[in-house]
Order: sequence, then structure tokens, then C-alpha cells
Amino acid sequence: MIAARSRVRLGSWWLSPHLLTMTVAMASTACSGFQSVLDPKGPRAEAVSKLHWTLLSIATVVYVIVIAVLLYALWYASHRPLPAGDHPYRETPDQADTMKRGVIIAVAVTVIVLISFVFASVSTGSTLGRLGGTKPLRIDVVGHQWWWGVTYNDPDPHNQFETANEIHVPVGRPVLIKMTSQDVIHSFWAPNLSGKKDLIPGHQTITWFRADTAGVYRGQCAEFCGHEHAKMAFFIVAEPTLKFESWVQQQRGEAQKPTDSLQAAGERVFLNGPCAMCHTISGTGAGSKFGPNLTHLASRLTIAAGTLPNTTGNLAGWILDPQSIKPGVKMPPNRIDPQSLQALLAYLENLK
Ligand code: CUA
Repeated sequence: MIAARSRVRLGSWWLSPHLLTMTVAMASTACSGFQSVLDPKGPRAEAVSKLHWTLLSIATVVYVIVIAVLLYALWYASHRPLPAGDHPYRETPDQADTMKRGVIIAVAVTVIVLISFVFASVSTGSTLGRLGGTKPLRIDVVGHQWWWGVTYNDPDPHNQFETANEIHVPVGRPVLIKMTSQDVIHSFWAPNLSGKKDLIPGHQTITWFRADTAGVYRGQCAEFCGHEHAKMAFFIVAEPTLKFESWVQQQRGEAQKPTDSLQAAGERVFLNGPCAMCHTISGTGAGSKFGPNLTHLASRLTIAAGTLPNTTGNLAGWILDPQSIKPGVKMPPNRIDPQSLQALLAYLENLK
């Protein structure tokens, strides 16, 4: 009843404020370039976007023609003079011929349009399947409830490193991603760069993308995977090669050592408390892979898989009570005294 009253009084269910808000929100996300299939920044997303606009344009033309013919038929039926005779509504043989020709042409055009849609779709599919470039950057992504584990492979194991929920890539170079899942099916989707690809437990899937413009692109899980599916986002940071290489050098290194007594106390809190039971910080005794690798936590844009900006306040709130921020998340609440928390935060904020 409340919902019914709140509707805009235009007599149609689809003009509810809810739908208007949704439409405005969709239109504004489409324009913001933050996460949008309508703002392609790489060859894969461009191919999909081109197909989308082609199909939409043809469908619009067909719709306009069909509606115009329908309106004309309605108008004609109410305006034509009634013929005399016993059966005024029966068409003459000439009219019957014209109608037959009309139907045959309409069917033929429909078949041609549908077949061309199939061709356009198949050719887009083959473009998506071809790796756009040589010497791809190889990354492994593992889906977890509800975060993304990312490994940068290297023939030399010393150069291999892990991060979470954030993928840095060089502009213009294809990125080949091997994916799997640790628990349930997830789906990798970065609308500005690449369409969806499932991550399946016990099975490897492959996708690729190339970012042609530097920028930070949001992606998200696109397969319902449980309680916090909506808070399973990630960011792709596309940067010029030199900047990317320096990021790689920094990520390959072990974690920053504490530089003062507060940070040293924080490291002890981390290593002696429950944190070390789930997380890895390389160069320390913490090596569990249950939760995200935190070796370079402070260099990341967000925490909790894109849920919150990576700020001291958010981090403190997250450590104390992650369940209130992301209910159902595998990280338990932590009872920690204020001094220990300050020390822990100082330590974590130093992990650049
Ligand atoms: Cu992972 Cu939805």
C-alpha cells in the first residue's frame, strides 16, 4: 500500500520512484566511467560495446518501422471508405496479393536481420578469443568467499609475488589470467576491460584483457557466491610500463621492517595474535594463506575486497569488527586493547 502510494501518479507500475532512481543510477554509472560496459578501455570491451551498439541500432530501426506500419494500419483501417457488396471486409484478389508479398518480404528481412546478428555475434566471439598482442603478462587469480587472491608468476620463483583484490597492469600489454576458485563459483568481470568469466572450483579457466588507457578500473564478482557476493570487488590499475615495473619491484620485496618502537610493538601484536593464523606477511613468521596476503597492504587502494577505502579509520573498524562491515566474512571480530590497536595500525600502515 505504501509502495502503491509512493508511485508517481501516472497510472503505470513502471513509473515507480524505485525504477526512476534505478534508471538515473544506471545512466550516471554509465557516464562516470568508473565501472561501465559503455565506456570501453580495451579491445575486448570495445568489441562487446561495438556489438551492443550495432544490435541496439538495428533493433531500434526495426522497432520504429514496425510501430510506424502498425500505426499506419490502424489509421488506414479507420479512415478507408467501406467498399460496397456482401462482404465489405473481404480483400480483393489484388489486395490479397499485395498482403502476401508484404508478408514474404517481412519474413525475408527478419531472417536476414537475425542471420546477420548471428554472424556479428560469432565474429565478436572470435575477436574475444584471440589474444590481443604478444608476450602477455601472466597472472593467476583465485576466487575466495569473498576476495580475490592474485599471483604474479615468474619463471624465477624469487620474482613471484602475491597480492589481493588489486591487479596492476601495464598499459597496452595483454594480460593473460588463469583462474580457479577455492570454494564456490565466482565470476571475474571488469566491465571497462573485459566480459565475465567464471572461476570454477577444481577447474582452470582462462581469460585475457588489455587496457589501452591508463586508469583505475573497478571490477566485481558477477556470479552469486553467497552472503557477501556484493562486496567482492577488485580494482585493475593500468599504468605506464615504467610505473608498473616499479610497482612490481616494490611488490616483490619482503615487507617493510618496523621503523620505530610503536611499529615493532604492532608487529608483535600481529605475529602473536590471531592475525598471523590467517594472513601472510612475507619476511615475518606469518605465512598462512587462509586470508589475503598483507605483505604490501598499505600500498592498496581499498580493504575488504573493494568494500572500503584503505584508511586508518576504516582499517581500525575492520580489525575490530569486520562482521558489522561485511556480515558473514570469514574474519572474526578481534578484542584488542587501544594501545595494541594503535601499534598494530602503525605497523600495518608501514607495509607499503
Ligand atoms: Cu564471488 Cu560473487
